[in-house]
Amino acid sequence: MKCKRCRSTAAVALPSHHAGFCPTCFLEFFSRQVERGIASQKLFTHDDRILVALSGGKDSLSLMLELSRLGYDVTGLHIDLGIPGSSPKARGVVERFCARHELRLIVCDMVSEGLAIPLVKERIKRPVCSACGKIKRHFFNKTALEGGFTALATGHNLDDEVARLFSNTLRWDVSYLSDQGPCLRESDDEGGFVRKVKPFWRLSEFEVANYAFLMDIEHHHAPCPYSGGATFTFYKHLLYELEEKMPGRKLAFYLDFLSKGRPAFAQYEQELGIEVAPCTECGYPTSAGVCGVCRIRAMLRDVTS
Ligand code: AMP
Ligand code: FES
Ligand code: ZN
Repeated sequence: MKCKRCRSTAAVALPSHHAGFCPTCFLEFFSRQVERGIASQKLFTHDDRILVALSGGKDSLSLMLELSRLGYDVTGLHIDLGIPGSSPKARGVVERFCARHELRLIVCDMVSEGLAIPLVKERIKRPVCSACGKIKRHFFNKTALEGGFTALATGHNLDDEVARLFSNTLRWDVSYLSDQGPCLRESDDEGGFVRKVKPFWRLSEFEVANYAFLMDIEHHHAPCPYSGGATFTFYKHLLYELEEKMPGRKLAFYLDFLSKGRPAFAQYEQELGIEVAPCTECGYPTSAGVCGVCRIRAMLRDVTS
């Protein structure tokens, strides 16, 4: 196969784009997809200060590197979850990456916050991954607002987004379907939510993996040790088969959701009228009086006292 742009030997085949690229032209294609994803959904501009959530995985590290190459103002944020074995490895990868590329990094340490995940897991009755998600989102938002950042970016790619959309659709989960997407706008009323963006929403996992390989990014591949992520992996396999038979269908499904599905769900959700107010403990916004993280803290206090 020949490279679509320069006609030299192609190294990466992309059936969904009816194209193959040599390494140099693939990196060019990749950058254009990122820029297109940012511009078409108005995610941010070169005037924004962007906090990039870095897990140590290939997606978020690739995102950080590519945004900095494109000239955006980026700072990394790593949440050290305090899980023996996996957290020190992830943190080490993130710290080495930022040092190597001379990128700013903020680390939030859950052990010193009294919220180490093994401790939370021991004390709560519910699956720990949902509590862990709440904790991460809380610190993403808090760190961004306190540091004066105007957007918080995560490494979610098209496969992540479509698997989540598929899962939300199977359950017709209106509250998720009404605001899933590459951009969740900021709201400065009631304590405040920073804008959340997913600049890799147009790129597949395969494309990001190729980018990480070509850019020589050392990453830490460790699915959460407590993970209930098996269902998501199953959906990703189903969608992979769909894409094999119908190249391009995955992106089209997601684009049609954004233009037709989401607005309809958003209107329905607005009619239900869910109120958000500052958490009575920490002041960050919640729809539940006391936010999820403060309830986890209270639960840990009750058990220790
Ligand atoms: P995941 O839910 O693990 O697939 O992660 C999705 C995105 O959330 C990643 O691409 C990161 O941007 C972000 N993320 C996940 N875990 C962390 C972490 N411990 N610290 C900072 N960002 C994270
Ligand atoms: Fe963090 Fe499972 S405990 S995702
Ligand atoms: Zn709170």
